[in-house]
Amino acid sequence: MISVAIDGPAGAGKSTLSRKLAEKFGFIYVDTGAMYRAVGLKFSRLGADTQLNCDIESILAETTVDIRFAEGEQRVFLDGQDVSDDIRTPEASMMASAVSAKPPVRAFLLDTQRKLAENNNCLMDGRDIGTVVLPNATVKIYLTATAEDRAMRRYKELIEKGQIVEFKDVFDDMVKRDYNDMHRDIAPLKQAEDAIVADTTGLEFEQSFALLTEIINKGIAVNENN
Ligand code: DC
Repeated sequence: MISVAIDGPAGAGKSTLSRKLAEKFGFIYVDTGAMYRAVGLKFSRLGADTQLNCDIESILAETTVDIRFAEGEQRVFLDGQDVSDDIRTPEASMMASAVSAKPPVRAFLLDTQRKLAENNNCLMDGRDIGTVVLPNATVKIYLTATAEDRAMRRYKELIEKGQIVEFKDVFDDMVKRDYNDMHRDIAPLKQAEDAIVADTTGLEFEQSFALLTEIINKGIAVNENN
């Protein structure tokens, strides 16, 4: 099976690019962030805040997170309910970051993620795909951009969805989330040694798409020749 791992901080264009790249290459797209968001939603629905002063393992024992595909589109189900839209709020982002620092939550999702890559050609994005989830991925990409650029993209996305947000709040959340994701003890966001860095600062979508297509094609060709 071919696997493409794309890691990087929030807002570098990972999801949009990954979805389109998976479509182009005919691979399934696995958005692991959505899985953490679904777990975060479960905890916030139970009244927890980002301190997570609750019995995490007992709650996980009564939680299911499934990924299903409808017309190539990933949908995320929490306890059997499609929560793909509910997980996209700024609050859900902060809860996702909080739960993702907890080892039982990471262990809970790891198995599902690896099984998807075992059974399908896949493009998986997240923070630890090249370092932890798929250390033998065919191609590893570390996708990044400056914090300003990433916050501006996220801000525009939220405004387009009709949400009322201030740029400064989006920027501050982004910096805070980067810090949490890079400094947690378990599976922190970092570049895998054998990952290729793609910096999308100032690039239009089409330019980033072309850059990543080239990296993936080269990576697959090198793998085939080995
Ligand atoms: O990519 P995203 O913004 O949807 O991710 C939501 C949160 O989940 C983010 O704060 C980091 C965390 N995450 C993670 O720890 N590991 C992954 N493989 C994917 C996401």
